Amino acid sequence: MRITDQAGAGPGATVEDFDHTTASDADIATLKRTVYTKKIAVLKGQDLSPREFLALGERLGRPETYYEPMYEHPEVPEIFVSSNVPENGRQTGVPKTGKFWHADYQFMPDPFGITLIYPRVVPEKNRGTYFIDMGRAYEALPADLKKEIAGTRCRHSVRKYFKIRPQDVYRPLGEVIEEVETRTPPVVQPTTFTHPMTGETVLYISEGFTVGIEDAGGNPLDEELLRRLFEATGQLDETFEHGNIHLQSFAKGDLLVWDNRSLIHRARHTTTPEPTVSHRLTVHDERGLHDGTPAA
Ligand SMILES: [Fe+2]
Repeated sequence: MRITDQAGAGPGATVEDFDHTTASDADIATLKRTVYTKKIAVLKGQDLSPREFLALGERLGRPETYYEPMYEHPEVPEIFVSSNVPENGRQTGVPKTGKFWHADYQFMPDPFGITLIYPRVVPEKNRGTYFIDMGRAYEALPADLKKEIAGTRCRHSVRKYFKIRPQDVYRPLGEVIEEVETRTPPVVQPTTFTHPMTGETVLYISEGFTVGIEDAGGNPLDEELLRRLFEATGQLDETFEHGNIHLQSFAKGDLLVWDNRSLIHRARHTTTPEPTVSHRLTVHDERGLHDGTPAA
């Protein structure tokens, strides 16, 4: 296994000669340390069946199966499928996923530490995923804004981006919304927390899932504060030129592993539809999202 920094000023490391079937426990620990410190590890030259991909993920942690079955891989339910390519005339997985800033499972009570993406059909144009390191973004906030959010908490919900399922056709919208709110009620987390693996301060908000900010006593604060945070961190920049935004490209055979505590990401979708398929695994490592007790 050989690890080198990616070219350029952005985050990320390239990992060559990694084989999950022969990697030692020390190799796995080194790989995970790379994920936490470099934020993205690009494993090169991977040629894995869905079951082998799951076996690789299991070496890094405990897989979490996505709560909505429509995303499931038909043979390996732990794999979440993003695809616009029908298989045998049938839609598999869900098209156009994640086209908004988010951390995976940010709206759930126990988000996992690591996300793995294995692109299977790579688009010719506009490939790649946008990332913002919310540890570095917090560091770069103006001092007065840091002061303003000290001790605050944020509310996260899937409601803005919950995707209507095939079985929702002909259901009243209010009933679907009610189901979303009952099944996945908003989750409250501290606005910033200490990353348990690196000690850095992470600003845990995203334009896609963060729906409110409140003071330590649970009193809602002006939504303008959230907007200012989204703006300052680059999440409202539709040109993707903000200095915080990193575009991570990939080639066939690349497998991306990233730190889901500190990175938020956003899928890049083509304006002209191109076939694209990717498989995702998400795993819990040894620690929770953060060591603080999540606020009630
Ligand atoms: Fe995602």
